[in-house]
Amino acid sequence: MSSERGEFGSRLGFVLAAAGSTIGLGNIWRFPYVAGEGGGGAFLVLYLAMVFTLGLSIMLAEIAIGRAAKRNPVGAFRTLKGGAWTGLGYLGVLAAFVILSFYSVIGGWTLAYVLATLGPLLEATDARAFGDHFRDFTAGPVEPVLYHGLFMLLSAGVVMGGVRAGIERWSKLLMPLLLIMLVALCLRALTLPGAWAGVEFFLIPDWQRFDAATVGAAMSQAFFSMSLGMGCLLTYGSYLSSAERLPGIAVTVSALDTTIAMLAGLLILPATFAFGFDPASGPGLSFVTLPAVFAEMPLGRVFAPLFFALLAIAALTSNVSLLETAVAYLVDEKGTGRRAATAIAAGLGFAIGVPSALAFGPFADATLFGKTFFGLMEYLATNLLMPIGGIGIAVFAGWVVRDRIRREVLGDGADRPAARIWGWILRWLAPAAVAWILISGL
Ligand code: TRP
Repeated sequence: MSSERGEFGSRLGFVLAAAGSTIGLGNIWRFPYVAGEGGGGAFLVLYLAMVFTLGLSIMLAEIAIGRAAKRNPVGAFRTLKGGAWTGLGYLGVLAAFVILSFYSVIGGWTLAYVLATLGPLLEATDARAFGDHFRDFTAGPVEPVLYHGLFMLLSAGVVMGGVRAGIERWSKLLMPLLLIMLVALCLRALTLPGAWAGVEFFLIPDWQRFDAATVGAAMSQAFFSMSLGMGCLLTYGSYLSSAERLPGIAVTVSALDTTIAMLAGLLILPATFAFGFDPASGPGLSFVTLPAVFAEMPLGRVFAPLFFALLAIAALTSNVSLLETAVAYLVDEKGTGRRAATAIAAGLGFAIGVPSALAFGPFADATLFGKTFFGLMEYLATNLLMPIGGIGIAVFAGWVVRDRIRREVLGDGADRPAARIWGWILRWLAPAAVAWILISGL
C-alpha cells in the first residue's frame, strides 16, 4: 500500500467527514425544491422510506467494500474480485469527475451569493430584481467561471492537506458550525407570520401525489444526497480503521444527512409560504426566492450572507469528497504524489466544468437532446452513472463477494434479523428498484 494513503484519526472524524460528503447542495439547495415540486408531504414520506431502506443498505455496502479493500474504487473492485468488476471502479471515477465539474459550478454560485447578499442586492424592493440578478450573474461569462475556479481551488486546498490534517480537521470544524447556523435560520423562518402553511405543506402528505414520478424523484434525491453509487463513501471507507463497527456509522451518517435535509425543508418551505412564493418554482428556489425572502425579513441582511456561507461550506465538504475519490485513484493506482494528484484532478474537474459554468449564458443555446452541457452532465450522473453504480455495488456486495462483505460488516456475529433484511434489500430490492428507476428515467 502506498505510504501516501492516510487513515482517519477517530470514529468521530470519519463520521463527520462522511457527513460532510453527504450533506451539501443536495440537502439545502436541491431537497427543498424537489420536495416543493413533489407536493411536499408525499415526497417527504417516499424520500424517508428510500433513505432508510435502499439508501442505508447501499451506503453500508459501499463503506464496507472500501474498508475491506483499503483501496480507491478501481483498486477495491480489482482487489476483491477483478475482471469486469474493475470496470465498476472506473465508472465511479468517471462519475466523480462528471459530478465534480458541475457541482463546483453551483458551489461557485454560493460563493458569489455570499458577496452579493453582503452588497446592495437585498435593497431591491421588487421581487423580480432577484430573478434578474440571478440571470445576469449566471449569464456570465466571466464571473461564473471565476467563482467555479475559486471554489475548486478551495476544495483542492483542503484535499492537499491529506486525510487527517485536511479533510478530517476541516469537517470537525465546519459541520457543527453548519448545524448551528441552520438551526438559527430555521427558528427565524418558523416564527415568520404565515410560515405554518409551509410546515403543513412539507409534513402532511397529499395522497394524490403518490405516483411513479414522485417515487423516482425521491429515489434519485436519496442517492444524490447520500453520495451513493460512485465510490465516494467507498473511498472514505478505505481510510477507516478496521476496528470500527460499520452499521452504527452508516445509521449515524444517514440520520445526520436526513436531519439537515429536514431542517433545510423547515427553513425554506415555511419561508416561501410566509412570503407567498411558489414552492414548485424549481432550481431557482434558493438563488432567486431566498434573497427575496431575506430582503423582507427583519435582520435579513445579516441572515442572507450567513445562509449562503452555510451553503458554500456544505458544498465545499461535498466537493472535497468528490475530488478525493479521483485523487485516491491517482495516488493508489498511478503512484502520483498527493499534491500532484490533487492539482491534476482539480484542474481536470475545473476544465470539464467550464462549459457547464457557461451553460446559463454564452452556451445556453448549445443543446443536445434539448439539454445544455450542464443539463447533460447532471443527467448523465444522476440518471445513468449513479443508478448503474448503485446496482453494481448492491449486486457486488449482495452476491459476488457476499461472505467477505458480511464478515466486514457483521464480524463473526450471529445472523440477526436486521442483517437478514439488509441482505435481502441488497440482493433483491435494490437491483430491482434501481433498475426500474434507471429504465423509467431514460
Ligand atoms: N451528497 C452531496 C450533496 O448532497 C453531493 C455529493 C458528494 C455526491 N459526493 C457525491 C453525490 C457522490 C453523488 C455521489 O450535496
